[in-house]
Amino acid sequence: MIIKYFGHSAFLVDIGKKILFDPWLKGNPWVKEPVEVNADYIFVSHSHSDHGLEDAINISQKTDVPIISIFELANYAKQKGARAIGGNIGGIMKVDELEVFLTPALHSSSLGSPVGFIVKYNGKTLYHAGDTGYFAEMKFLGKRFNIDVAFLPIGGTFTMGVEECLFAIKDLKPGFAVPMHYNTFPAIKAEPQRLKEKLKTH
Ligand code: NI
Ligand code: MN
Repeated sequence: MIIKYFGHSAFLVDIGKKILFDPWLKGNPWVKEPVEVNADYIFVSHSHSDHGLEDAINISQKTDVPIISIFELANYAKQKGARAIGGNIGGIMKVDELEVFLTPALHSSSLGSPVGFIVKYNGKTLYHAGDTGYFAEMKFLGKRFNIDVAFLPIGGTFTMGVEECLFAIKDLKPGFAVPMHYNTFPAIKAEPQRLKEKLKTH
């Protein structure tokens, strides 16, 4: 598995298919020069501009790569000329050979509910939590899925902070936990190394 991090919540994960999550590239302070992204599928967790809906629509318009998201956000993307596949929270959604599960996210969004994504392909299971606070159903997700890599926000203010993320990791039991959504703005300052230290004693 190859994981490319663009900063904030934007990842390109290669698990045999190239999975692009929350591709905020334009205006992302971590992205210093224009990048060409080659993806097979784009996942957008919610409408907030720091999660790349606009970039996703641009990429989809150019390459015909589908955007996968909550129903209302997918409809919006279609209206803008993108290819999009909408679903909702609750069960497996088949997208070609991918198994996709939309998870709840405790957050807000102006296009349908905010979500996270579990993506299964080629024997690998990814969980991108989007923007969320800690929620009790993470226990269920940990039992339902054998998560290899979990991408989890730690910046506080708009999402979980480091302390809450420790509870999330305990519930989700991922092979690897990758922190995201921190240090992009002063309001989401966090120390990812503290997560590592505290995991040893939690
Ligand atoms: Ni947000
Ligand atoms: Mn955000």
